[in-house]
Amino acid sequence: MGSRPQELRQEYESEDRAAHYRNNRWTRSPRARRTDAKEQSIVESFLHESINAQMHNGEDLTRILDLPCGTGRFRNMLERNCKQVWSGDASREMLMQTPPTTGLQMSAHAIPLADDAVDLILCSRLLHHFEHAEQRMTVLQELARVSQRWIVLSYFDSANFQAWRNRIRGEFRGRFPMTQKTFANEIHAAGLKEHKRVYIARGVSEQVWVLLEKGTVH
Ligand SMILES: C[S@@+](CC[C@H](N)C(=O)[O-])C[C@H]1O[C@@H](n2cnc3c(N)ncnc32)[C@H](O)[C@@H]1O
Repeated sequence: MGSRPQELRQEYESEDRAAHYRNNRWTRSPRARRTDAKEQSIVESFLHESINAQMHNGEDLTRILDLPCGTGRFRNMLERNCKQVWSGDASREMLMQTPPTTGLQMSAHAIPLADDAVDLILCSRLLHHFEHAEQRMTVLQELARVSQRWIVLSYFDSANFQAWRNRIRGEFRGRFPMTQKTFANEIHAAGLKEHKRVYIARGVSEQVWVLLEKGTVH
């Protein structure tokens, strides 16, 4: 599968990096605060959509897995909406910064949970770290296996100013955008279909959020 997943885990396995992520990453500038607020609102709206769809079928949405949870940025919002929120991350240092430290150390490439163990998985800001389809596919297949129905996920899209500027400048930041077509092919191969997408700033920034459901589009 290549060494990138291993390198990435080591990158976050640092007390300083984890403390920075918890204390500064999302508060360091007006832009960072705006992005965080926007992402919280997108994830919460996707969550409401999934809860309403479950209710329509006479079912509840009671179990969420936040993987990777990082330092617990989404925890309060998730707990406001759902009875059981489980958190997981590959980095022990990130988990140690997540009070109270109830998160479990786990890899999204091999989630230590049974099939259909939760109703929804939130997978925020992980997929764009992987260059190769094989690395992303393993994660997508694991999310599809462990979630009973819903997945809320972010990835980097390549059709925007930010991605274009990075390509022109030859900037390699260990972040890998992909085309919407590639993304569609990969989720289809993992047995998932896209319900909805929201761009952080369409045409300008790379980050895209999608609400996925198990089941393929024909
Ligand atoms: C950019 S942070 C995002 C954290 C959180 N989802 C958020 O949006 O605030 C990326 C996280 O992915 C974790 N990570 C890296 N590789 C992973 C893997 N294979 N499985 C699970 N977590 C991983 C890192 O430890 C880090 O906490």
